[in-house]
Amino acid sequence: MPARGLILGIESSCDETAAAVVERGSRTLSSVVASQISTHARYGGVVPELASREHLRAIVPVVRAALVQAGIALDDLDAIAVTSGPGLAGALLVGIAYAKALAFAQGLPLIAVNHLEGHIHAVLLHEAESWPDGRSFADDEPALALVVSGGHTHLYRCRPVRNIWSYKLVGRTLDDAAGEAFDKVAKLLGFGYPGGPWIDALARYGNPRAVPFAFAQVKRKLHLEGKAPRTKAARTAPIADLDPRFLFSFSGIKTAVLRYVELNRLRPALERNTVRATRPPQSKEEALALCPRQTLDLIASFQCAVVGDLLKKTLAAAESLGARRILVTGGVAANRELRARFTAEGARRNLRVAFPTPALSTDNAAMIAAAAWPRFQAGEFAPPSLSADPSLALGK
Ligand code: KG4
Ligand code: ZN
Repeated sequence: MPARGLILGIESSCDETAAAVVERGSRTLSSVVASQISTHARYGGVVPELASREHLRAIVPVVRAALVQAGIALDDLDAIAVTSGPGLAGALLVGIAYAKALAFAQGLPLIAVNHLEGHIHAVLLHEAESWPDGRSFADDEPALALVVSGGHTHLYRCRPVRNIWSYKLVGRTLDDAAGEAFDKVAKLLGFGYPGGPWIDALARYGNPRAVPFAFAQVKRKLHLEGKAPRTKAARTAPIADLDPRFLFSFSGIKTAVLRYVELNRLRPALERNTVRATRPPQSKEEALALCPRQTLDLIASFQCAVVGDLLKKTLAAAESLGARRILVTGGVAANRELRARFTAEGARRNLRVAFPTPALSTDNAAMIAAAAWPRFQAGEFAPPSLSADPSLALGK
């Protein structure tokens, strides 16, 4: 057994190059995240080729900074963990190639981590750090995890079996992820990428009941019979065994927002910004000055509807599985209305609802190093042939 249990985590699945050092899966010594937002912002979304190039540029300084911040040298490490999927193939490969080379040069074991499992462990890491006296909830009762990000809206039943967590998919989106809907709606209203933080910041200034967006029950049969619009997610979704009550769909609300904007002739913030029409608003104050009341009401109503749908289906799944504990994670878990409503409803129903810190909600490497710790203890190491798996699934 190693003296300190120090794992270096490396994450490069999308548009953040991240490295972190975590001790025994429960104490963060450093967490460094180099964001590529400014590179992708002008395109309104992540450009895969640019992401790979930026990862190549950032990986060495980011890992070096994580070691310096942790106050350790490469020789102090016990293992290296890296995200092997899901994500962008070229982006994943940068982290994997670097982690493999470093592990080989240092004679250290390499641990492959699923990005989604990483997000779930961000909550467990935060819990462990909040109760360092050992008051963690790592008992064997099932928990329900909602992973809600720019690429995923998935519900998993999670259970620690002899310290290794096992996962079963119980629900998912059939089309867009919730974060994608935030990003697309923000884009059509003229805000920059990523859109979630803009919607979050502006929603509190509008009336959430102004526009009555509704989520109908998802018709799984239509998707199974190919009668629904053919989206990439629907084609690949293992939805046949999932309870339709736990299926999400966020492409409809995006279209409803677009229709509302057209019908009411709402001008996007970017277009209204006649002084410097080439760039979207840069601050909340600037955005507020450019947004008419109707736009703020639309933003508040959109966020309220999406959070309401996530809350309703997650609670229904928790009830059906007998889970007394809900772990909410992924970029959208940084959303303030989501946190407030999940927390309030959890308290009302005597359910424990846990989140990562807002910084650990979005992509980072501390969650990768934390998820690797049980695998390290079990000796589950990656083979030298490890490669990227862009559509890696979690659980069954
Ligand atoms: O987990 P993440 O960093 O990357 C993925 O794995 O996708 O999530 C990024 C997503 C983006 O869609 C972003 O708009 C959304 O999380 N997001 C938010 C907030 N902060 C980030 N959505 C709503 N409210 C926020 N405060
Ligand atoms: Zn993520």
